[in-house]
Amino acid sequence: MQPGGLPKLSLPNMKNIVAVASGKGGVGKSTVSTNLALALAGMGFKVGLLDADIYGPSVPLMLGIQGQVDQSTTPLPLDRHGIKLMSMGFLVPPEKAVIWRGPMIHRALTQFLSDLPWGELDYLIVDMPPGTGDAQLTLTQSVPLTAAVVVTTPQEVSLIDARKGLEMFREVRVPVLGIIENMSYFVGDDGKRYDIFGHGGGQRLADATGVPFLGAIPIDPKVVQSGDSGAPMVISHPESPVAAAYRDLAGVVVKNLAQAPQEAPLPSLS
Ligand SMILES: Nc1ncnc2c1ncn2[C@@H]1O[C@H](COP(=O)(O)OP(=O)(O)OP(=O)(O)O)[C@@H](O)[C@H]1O
Ligand SMILES: [Mg+2]
Repeated sequence: MQPGGLPKLSLPNMKNIVAVASGKGGVGKSTVSTNLALALAGMGFKVGLLDADIYGPSVPLMLGIQGQVDQSTTPLPLDRHGIKLMSMGFLVPPEKAVIWRGPMIHRALTQFLSDLPWGELDYLIVDMPPGTGDAQLTLTQSVPLTAAVVVTTPQEVSLIDARKGLEMFREVRVPVLGIIENMSYFVGDDGKRYDIFGHGGGQRLADATGVPFLGAIPIDPKVVQSGDSGAPMVISHPESPVAAAYRDLAGVVVKNLAQAPQEAPLPSLS
């Protein structure tokens, strides 16, 4: 039974739907979503990317698309770097979307996911808005998520919110594939590793909650440049350690999804 009476969408053509979420904003969800989607496509899978961040859709910019898209001339979802892309930002300016509540979000998702020609997808990656409020709950309850990946940074403030994100998925009975620690460390020109935001927080949270730790992505200023210029790291700097970390993440996601029973109960967070 869906609280609020919103039915779950039926999406039989999408084999795995994976939410990328966090409690806190700005930890790198959109960067992870975009690079994860591209890394999966690079492995030969059919991949879609849904930017579900109604408040601050940033995936279009990361893939070189600015502003709104005229649906009468441009077929949606868009094709970019071999993945199919749809964003709330294509149709609705964020300043209009911020007042959206559950039923409107549900209607938009129905339009995006059920009515657009996505074709058969092995993976749909869903970039979630930050936080654990009404919009996030509607998303998790409307979309038949296979699993979620929770992104955190090493700081305590981020870890506390990531834990709230984990709890939200437990409440809606969506298995969490694991935790990824972004902006984990920085390797200087001297080759030394600097733990700018502290060390091991993501791993500790994973240990404390019994959720797998999926890996650490280093800080690299090129991530910002490539995100702002429409060519994410996996495409623009495939040889970089950051791109390698995203490909590793994609490999772990594929492996864990193949192994995990779809209805696996979430571990206790106590
Ligand atoms: N590993 C990294 N190294 C350096 N910069 C990064 C890294 N990951 C993300 N960033 C940068 O941090 C900023 C925030 O990232 P991003 O937009 O992906 O976060 P988000 O969690 O989606 O934010 P929001 O909550 O606003 O949706 C961006 O400018 C991005 O380029
Ligand atoms: Mg984002």
